[in-house]
Amino acid sequence: MRENRSKRNVAAVVLCVILLMCGVIFTGGIAHGKVETDNSCYNCHYQLGGRMKVSADGWEKSIHRKVGITCDVCHGGNPYITSEDSMSEKYNFRGVPTPFEIPELCGSCHSDVKMMKQYNLRTDQWEEYKTSQHGILLAQGDPNVATCVSCHGTHEIRKKSDPLSSVFHTNVPETCAKCHANEELMSKYGIPANQYDLYRKGYHGKILYGEVEGKNPLLVPNCATCHGIHGARPPGVEEVPNVCGNCHSNIYEYFRMGPHGEAVKETGEPRCVDCHGNHKNDLPTPAMFDGSEEGHCGYCHDESEEAYKVGQELKEKILFVQEKLEELTGVLEEAKKTGKFIDRLESAVTELSAQFVQMRPKTHALNPGILRRNLIDADDQIRIAEEEVEKMRAQDRLRVRVALAGSGLFLILGLLFVAKLFQVRREEGDREE
Ligand code: HEC
Ligand code: HEC
Ligand code: HEC
Ligand code: HEC
Ligand code: HEC
Ligand code: HEC
Ligand code: HEC
Ligand code: HEC
Ligand code: HEC
Repeated sequence: MRENRSKRNVAAVVLCVILLMCGVIFTGGIAHGKVETDNSCYNCHYQLGGRMKVSADGWEKSIHRKVGITCDVCHGGNPYITSEDSMSEKYNFRGVPTPFEIPELCGSCHSDVKMMKQYNLRTDQWEEYKTSQHGILLAQGDPNVATCVSCHGTHEIRKKSDPLSSVFHTNVPETCAKCHANEELMSKYGIPANQYDLYRKGYHGKILYGEVEGKNPLLVPNCATCHGIHGARPPGVEEVPNVCGNCHSNIYEYFRMGPHGEAVKETGEPRCVDCHGNHKNDLPTPAMFDGSEEGHCGYCHDESEEAYKVGQELKEKILFVQEKLEELTGVLEEAKKTGKFIDRLESAVTELSAQFVQMRPKTHALNPGILRRNLIDADDQIRIAEEEVEKMRAQDRLRVRVALAGSGLFLILGLLFVAKLFQVRREEGDREE
């Protein structure tokens, strides 16, 4: 009885495997083996070629499919009829939406607070979009700007947290670049097409593309962080420090305290990006206090001006600490290799480095006095460190002397030995004669 049952089980399993294999063969692979119920649109389209298939393949991977938003929801038609008649106007088939219809189509659900609440999604994308340069130009009849599907894809729409999504944090620059790196398209509007190139070369970009070790690509801004995600437009004069200040908040505070923070409110200059660049931000160095290159102090202030001199004073203080820090770090690294006692030196260098890190953002206040406290602390640490280095050198000198004395003694003993040897030889010679 029991044996019979287990035989039947085996037979059932074998049958299942055979059926499954037939299914796979008939439908041309596991990936597309899922015949959708109540979705003749998909069932027919994935067997077609070209664009017709692309739409089905894309939709299959989308978040919309997961929540049951089928083809007919966006295109109309009758998904229960397996012939092309399903795409007839009598079933309200609407064909392919034009760019002008797309925001409203997507917005019909995504602006619906009740529906979106279930998914914890915002509902302001369409409203925001209308305020963007894209939305404004679309409303004026320009079909070349970005609509919802230019950034999200037409069918393969994924959650923003999905690394394969076109709007996943690190994929955004490529998504914008589809149009903004297109010289031909951008020249029509008289704007440059170099933002993507510049961004890739800048420090933010290098971090985003994983080229700076130890830095998290998800923490640097991409195009949409600075321009607004759905309200993309050039940030206004007032907005720039705020945008940067979202992340560089301590610098923003010092900047606001100083004369530049005042000036930017009144004259619109200088903004963070006037000194650091917007798309390509290089690593700042004290060299920015010198000369009249774009973004350097001399670009806006004559070298004879008080403002320029303030810059020179800041630079001297920064450089003083920076150079000491580099020198002492070098000594420390050497000392580590020789196995000396370095605890005090190491802690002084660490403290000095902390002071330096605090000083650099403070320069934005343009008030050398603000560095006083740090300089006093830095001086203390430099003194401690230099004392330690002096102690190490004294020990080294002692060691050299001991070593010299040792080898001197060795030499004398050696000479005595040789002399003795000669004497013995000579005595032996004398005896033989
Ligand atoms: C029996 C196969 C079949 C079924 C079922 C089917 N389609 Fe199509 N569909 C096609 C073919 C073939 C074309 C290409 C027609 C052409 O190029 O003229 C097409 C074209 C389209 C287009 C592009 C139309 C255009 O103007 O370029 C859309 C959109 C579309 N189908 C949506 C749907 C939707 C939505 C459904 C279900 C309600 C559906 N289809 C059902 C075969 C089918
Ligand atoms: C969330 C809404 C939505 C859903 C769901 C959807 N589509 Fe589309 N589809 C669109 C939009 C919007 C366009 C126009 C895109 C454009 O202009 O780039 C489009 C375009 C198309 C086109 C024309 C493609 C081309 O390259 O010209 C076809 C064919 C199509 N869809 C078929 C389908 C099929 C089949 C399904 C289901 C498997 C489906 N769509 C599901 C919104 C949708
Ligand atoms: C210029 C490109 C662009 C356009 C146009 C665009 N989006 Fe987005 N969208 C994004 C980016 C980038 C994100 C990811 C934001 C993030 O990482 O927080 C996003 C996120 C979303 C989200 C996820 C929820 C949220 O708000 O963070 C939804 C839903 C969405 N977009 C819908 C739309 C709709 C609807 C439209 C058209 C009205 C649209 N998007 C137009 C780029 C765009
Ligand atoms: C019929 C209603 C409906 C329509 C029309 C619709 N969506 Fe959605 N969409 C949803 C729902 C519901 C979700 C939430 C799924 C989830 O989070 O599990 C969603 C999710 C999304 C997401 C992922 C959000 C996230 O979590 O990051 C994006 C992006 C998106 N839709 C964009 C679009 C775009 C672009 C269009 C127009 C082409 C569109 N949607 C049309 C209902 C709709
Ligand atoms: C489908 C093509 C397309 C895509 C994708 C696209 N844009 Fe645009 N964008 C345009 C066009 C066209 C303009 C109009 C140029 C103008 O402003 O006159 C524009 C304008 C802008 C402007 C205003 C520029 C100015 O000075 O007037 C900003 C900012 C912008 N886009 C940012 C973005 C960002 C950020 C993304 C990606 C998240 C993006 N765009 C994706 C086509 C696109
Ligand atoms: C760190 C912030 C930041 C990032 C990241 C950023 N932008 Fe900008 N972008 C700006 C600022 C600020 C301006 C305005 C510059 C001005 O007014 O001088 C600007 C201007 C623009 C303009 C107007 C034309 C121009 O070049 O002045 C476009 C288009 C644009 N950005 C697209 C992009 C694209 C595409 C990306 C991603 C590859 C991007 N931006 C990344 C801050 C940023
Ligand atoms: C989304 C957050 C974010 C925004 C917005 C942002 N940054 Fe950054 N920025 C970072 C991160 C993270 C780093 C890397 C810091 C590090 O080296 O650890 C960085 C590095 C920098 C550096 C190099 C600093 C260094 O460490 O020596 C400069 C300069 C800079 N940003 C300027 C700007 C300016 C100007 C803006 C506004 C136009 C801006 N950032 C907007 C996150 C941001
Ligand atoms: C007048 C030019 C100027 C303006 C405006 C300016 N900075 Fe700086 N920034 C500098 C200089 C010079 C340095 C380099 C100081 C150094 O090397 O010690 C610097 C350094 C930095 C650093 C690196 C600091 C560190 O600790 O590594 C960041 C980040 C930064 N600035 C962000 C900003 C932000 C954000 C704003 C706007 C709120 C801004 N800057 C405005 C000139 C400027
Ligand atoms: C993009 C232009 C620009 C750059 C670059 C710039 N400044 Fe200024 N600075 C201004 C403006 C505008 C004011 C306010 C008007 C004025 O007092 O000249 C100002 C004012 C000042 C003041 C106050 C002057 C006073 O007499 O009250 C100091 C100090 C100053 N800047 C220092 C610097 C330093 C240091 C640098 C380089 C790190 C620098 N600035 C780079 C535009 C700039």
